[in-house]
Amino acid sequence: MRVRNVKNKEEIISNSKYTVLNPSEYKGKWNSVFGNNNPIYLEVGMGKGTFILENAKLNPNINYIGIEKNGSVLSYAIKRIEEYKLDNLKLICFDANKIDEIFDKDIDLLYLNFSDPWPKNRHEKRRLTSNSFLEKYDKIFKSNKVIEMKTDNQGLFEYSVISFVDNGYKIEDISLDLTNKEDFINIRTEYEEKYILKNNRIYYLKVIKTC
Ligand SMILES: C[S@@+](CC[C@H](N)C(=O)[O-])C[C@H]1O[C@@H](n2cnc3c(N)ncnc32)[C@H](O)[C@@H]1O
Repeated sequence: MRVRNVKNKEEIISNSKYTVLNPSEYKGKWNSVFGNNNPIYLEVGMGKGTFILENAKLNPNINYIGIEKNGSVLSYAIKRIEEYKLDNLKLICFDANKIDEIFDKDIDLLYLNFSDPWPKNRHEKRRLTSNSFLEKYDKIFKSNKVIEMKTDNQGLFEYSVISFVDNGYKIEDISLDLTNKEDFINIRTEYEEKYILKNNRIYYLKVIKTC
């Protein structure tokens, strides 16, 4: 995501009521951050936050955590989210490469929306659905592992299907044209809106690995 550098991003991130600045302190006890035992849904690479904000507004009985590694992008999200009073949303400025350092059996569902495709073979490990990321995700889920992904990138989609199946996941739901999928409540992301305007096809996948 290309955004202008936000000069006071550290200040915006540190002063927000939504950000958790010391996430590793809550490893294995994220329910205590929310003060309840509701399920916790995580979005990695949340961008400017439309998807997670709308989900948190619609589902007060689910707790949401968004991770974004780019401080400027996260500060844009914070500026928009700050005007709402939501007890079920927390944001972390963090690289998901170290995700297993901040979660341990805390998460019920993981969203990967329009993740960077990293098409070159030598960058495979950076893909958020690569083997090395899936091994880390294994440690963060409470019990059953549930992942939902959306992308307009056919290469990343096909790669991810194979990677999930190779790692023991079963396909629960799949669409090769999410925009026209019937009986599906879809909350769009910023990238999704942009790609739909360009008439790009949106792929969707929901996978589950049971214990
Ligand atoms: C293409 S954008 C998509 C943003 C948003 N999910 C959407 O659909 O509009 C990908 C986002 O993921 C973030 N990102 C990529 N790799 C990440 C990582 N390892 N950890 C955390 N965030 C990451 C990027 O900084 C960027 O904001």
